[in-house]
Amino acid sequence: MSKEIVVSGIRSTGNLHLGNYFGAIQNYIKMQEEYTCYFFVADYHSLTTHPDPAQLRPNVFKVLAENIACGLDPERVTLYVQSDVPEIPELYLMLNMLSYKGELEKTASFKEKARKQPDNVNAGLLTYPTLMAADILIHKAKYVPVGKDQEQHLEMTRNFANRFNHRYGETFPEPYPFNFGKSLVKIPSLDGTGKMSKSENEHATLYLCDEDDLIRKKVMKAKTDQGPTEPNSTMPDYIVNLFDLMKLVSSEEVVQQFLNNYNDCTIRYGDMKKQLAEDMVTFIRPIREKTLALQQDTASLNRIMLSGREKARESAAKTLSEARKKMGINFYT
Ligand code: TYM
Repeated sequence: MSKEIVVSGIRSTGNLHLGNYFGAIQNYIKMQEEYTCYFFVADYHSLTTHPDPAQLRPNVFKVLAENIACGLDPERVTLYVQSDVPEIPELYLMLNMLSYKGELEKTASFKEKARKQPDNVNAGLLTYPTLMAADILIHKAKYVPVGKDQEQHLEMTRNFANRFNHRYGETFPEPYPFNFGKSLVKIPSLDGTGKMSKSENEHATLYLCDEDDLIRKKVMKAKTDQGPTEPNSTMPDYIVNLFDLMKLVSSEEVVQQFLNNYNDCTIRYGDMKKQLAEDMVTFIRPIREKTLALQQDTASLNRIMLSGREKARESAAKTLSEARKKMGINFYT
């Protein structure tokens, strides 16, 4: 039986962080054995903010290296760069005819970006979800491992797929976000005011390339208070946050010990943060070191990209040809 198809991508807009790892990459790695996986660097998507052209190449290489350093095996999955697959922008163009201004303007990510960069509300920003749909539908994916922030984009992808199918005949399966049956993840920032992010909240985001001392510094700055005065009190959000982060990298016994200390009012947040910092260092260090080594080896990264491009285009060309025919764009029979 053929394996089910999985697609997911990461924008090349900056350093990857714990949110990218626990929201997406961790599942890529778990899925690579059982599914036919297409994972890519979304460099076109990064263009909405007009990055410096000289930074594009190093950024793309870094994301590739970080994915591999986290455990992604380019022999098992198709790992490629979005702009290497011209079938994607062609499908994007077709899907744009089925994406409506009203729904695009209502997208939460568009509204947020339009608010943050009022001088650059470009059409690429507006049709961001349409390009994402093309990324996913080009391989007829069934599952898309992503974090919580991408849920709405997936819903839109299903709408576009259904619209296409309805108008031109059954072509695309409905893709769903995937987290092994659990709800999608949102990794909070260390200051508890939002999520970890590549470009914002840098002091409260732990990056996979952060040096040990920087990790310690960021964790030690996390907000705490005097501690509970009543046994079993309700935890303030910022403390829940710390426990949530601890659950990602510390052993169950360690988490339980600090929970017990919280509940009997003996908790010392300084100790808890020290423990969390050390467990974060232990988690991040090998990924950082492996990334650095991989980044030096540009020849290997180039080979991986080329082989990924070939495999991705093979699958994409089949879907595109079918979509063109369904739309009536087949003039040379
Ligand atoms: P991007 O590059 O912002 O993030 C990459 C992946 O990391 C997840 N993520 C998080 N998960 C949990 N907590 C967080 N704090 C957190 N921050 C980021 C994201 O949900 C994502 O899974 N639009 C996408 C890239 C994309 C894509 C696609 C994804 C383009 N085309 C097709 C899937 C399928 C994005 O900007 O992700």
